[in-house]
Amino acid sequence: MSKPSKLKGVIRDLRRGLNYSGLYEKDAADDPIQQFEVWLNEAVKKETFEPNAMTLATATSDGKPTARTVLLKDFGPEGFEFYTNYNSRKGQSLEENPQASLVFYWGSLSRQVLIDGTVTKLSHEKSAEYFHSRPRASQIAAYISNQSHAVANRNELKALMKSASEKFRDQEVPCPEHWGGFVLMPTRIEFWQGRPDRLHDRLCYTREESNQWRRQRLAP
Ligand SMILES: Cc1cc2nc3c(=O)[nH]c(=O)nc-3n(C[C@H](O)[C@H](O)[C@H](O)COP(=O)(O)O)c2cc1C
Repeated sequence: MSKPSKLKGVIRDLRRGLNYSGLYEKDAADDPIQQFEVWLNEAVKKETFEPNAMTLATATSDGKPTARTVLLKDFGPEGFEFYTNYNSRKGQSLEENPQASLVFYWGSLSRQVLIDGTVTKLSHEKSAEYFHSRPRASQIAAYISNQSHAVANRNELKALMKSASEKFRDQEVPCPEHWGGFVLMPTRIEFWQGRPDRLHDRLCYTREESNQWRRQRLAP
């Protein structure tokens, strides 16, 4: 790089004292889904905004990675759910290659959770149920938006919104076939807790062939 950014000095010196309590084997749940529930609950109480926001990383069949933020809408033994447009860039990537990763970062707790697994589509019925629980404007926006594809300008989108609002006046907005949920079934879940002196805690759970979870501590 010929000219360093004016922010170089600022970002190099950003260091926080990390004084959080640790993540010990004796306290962590045997089941990572239960451990995730404990941490998400604490993040809901502590994070000021969108603690359910997660980075979703995908890769095309020829290995080109992309990542973006989506919102977790449900989770449990059946996996981690999020909703999107199936024709979007992520939708196309997942169609080609269902392997994906999720990253949660809860800065106020100095915590990170990494989840790797395989993604499948939720049923249209389940997607429609969630679709209709959303505000009407969000339903119409999802209906008209050809997510990730180029549009001429913002007015084009506003015109599409207006005509769909008129079309569905006094009617239920149908959940489009191109919109719905994905569920990621995890094979690996890692919990990272920031600690003083950078000796951070990392507990990693991997799913064995027997479907049991194996837990290991990883070096930071
Ligand atoms: C906090 C936040 C939450 C978001 N939640 C979603 C979501 O749940 N579903 C979604 O499709 N896009 C969501 N987005 C937009 C995506 O990050 C992204 O721009 C969009 O899905 C298109 O991604 P793609 O072109 O990689 O498919 C969210 C963005 C932010 C910043």
